[in-house]
Amino acid sequence: MPPSQKQMKLGAFLMKSGHHVAAWRHPNAREDAGVSFQHYADLARTAERAKLDLLFISDSNAVRGPGLGSIRHTWRTDFFEPFTLVAALSSITSRIGLVVTASTTFNEPFHIARKFASLDHLSEGRAGWNLVTSSNPAEALNFSGEDLPLHADRYERAHEFADVVRGLWDSWEEDAFVRDKETGSYVDPEKMHVLDHRGKHFKVLGPLTVARPPQGHPVIFQAGSSDAGKELAAATADVVFTAQQSLPDAQAFYADVKGRLGKYGRSPDDVKIMPGVFPIVGRSAQEAQEKFEELQALILPEVGIGQLWDILGGLDLSRYPVDGPVPRDVAETNNNKSRQKMMLDLAYRENMTIRQLYQHAAGGGGHWRVVGTATQIADQLEERFSKQAADGFNILPATLPGEFNDFVDLVIPELQRRGLFRTEYEGQTLRDNLGLAKQTHLPRAAGAA
Ligand SMILES: Cc1cc2nc3c(=O)[nH]c(=O)nc-3n(C[C@H](O)[C@H](O)[C@H](O)COP(=O)(O)O)c2cc1C
Repeated sequence: MPPSQKQMKLGAFLMKSGHHVAAWRHPNAREDAGVSFQHYADLARTAERAKLDLLFISDSNAVRGPGLGSIRHTWRTDFFEPFTLVAALSSITSRIGLVVTASTTFNEPFHIARKFASLDHLSEGRAGWNLVTSSNPAEALNFSGEDLPLHADRYERAHEFADVVRGLWDSWEEDAFVRDKETGSYVDPEKMHVLDHRGKHFKVLGPLTVARPPQGHPVIFQAGSSDAGKELAAATADVVFTAQQSLPDAQAFYADVKGRLGKYGRSPDDVKIMPGVFPIVGRSAQEAQEKFEELQALILPEVGIGQLWDILGGLDLSRYPVDGPVPRDVAETNNNKSRQKMMLDLAYRENMTIRQLYQHAAGGGGHWRVVGTATQIADQLEERFSKQAADGFNILPATLPGEFNDFVDLVIPELQRRGLFRTEYEGQTLRDNLGLAKQTHLPRAAGAA
């Protein structure tokens, strides 16, 4: 492989038994995955063996739709708190990036700065924060609220939240801790920077109780794709997760986010865009299709409708005929605007029934689906990578561990053979492997002690 050839970044989005809505019922999936460390340990080792850039664990501070009739059959109800999980995974892995979600709506920036700085030290530079503003209204009910704050207000808070977190990571210069037993000098106060942030949403003095993280700043991921989400990504993110169905949509999103970077003094290479992909790979195209249909046959209608409730921003479709059209008088949601729009646009364009829409969403919840042989899947990934629709992909395996093992055994070697994916890690930290510069800048003058 020519060393100069540009290679894609790949992440494994590890979600319990898998990303198909009926995954847990499939023989290739582990049904007690949400609370099995062994399950995640095996997946992490597989991902590292495949030289993936990162594994990603999403989060919600509430069970989704506990009041819905589908709760009996819903398996996204019990899962590890993700920091606790990746802290444990950091001790059994050495190279793979460890990326977890933390909400800016239901946390304080000091907590988040501290936890990610700690994770970065524990993992020797492999921590990543997926910054979300939360889209599940049930989360508010667990934090003394009635509903999610307004979308625009959540994003306004998120901008300030990210500023505070980054400021706290700059609390200490890299060589601040001298720890000289001879002189008794533990820390050089000249190299301590007290943030003293006073903003609209937060008042935070600092400094952080953790030394400067090995990466300078842990890598920031951003996963909201509304206009406000794209702006937040341009201002703060190193990597963007997104769901994009068609090649033109993915290209438009890619150009849009990269085009916003200039006004923040950033260049297109500073941000990697990694759309999600839900692959089902077979040794023949027919086998792949059969694998997919086997999963589809396991969907109970109430579970499909329950998933649409989530994707469509709290829209309850259970009162409509399942083989009737998707209703047209749907109000814009305050929850996840971009996903609601994408799925409704698709349903209206293709005149889908409710059943057809949930069957479409069942694999990957609105992410791009590719079903075929390793060659066919590699062709499609290569096309999006080479046509400026993606810098890499976040892989959403249909079942875990089954489909993930198949992707690693069949598709990764094909991408490597084409020179599109690494055969060895380039560096030690997540930043190194993603090709992102270490954050070495000194704290802003205003925050200096
Ligand atoms: C790959 C991916 C992962 C996501 N992970 C989470 C998550 O863990 N928790 C969460 O609340 N939202 C998650 N989201 C949703 C978004 O962060 C965001 O809340 C939602 O898209 C609404 O933002 P928007 O209105 O700007 O699109 C994820 C989205 C994507 C594409």
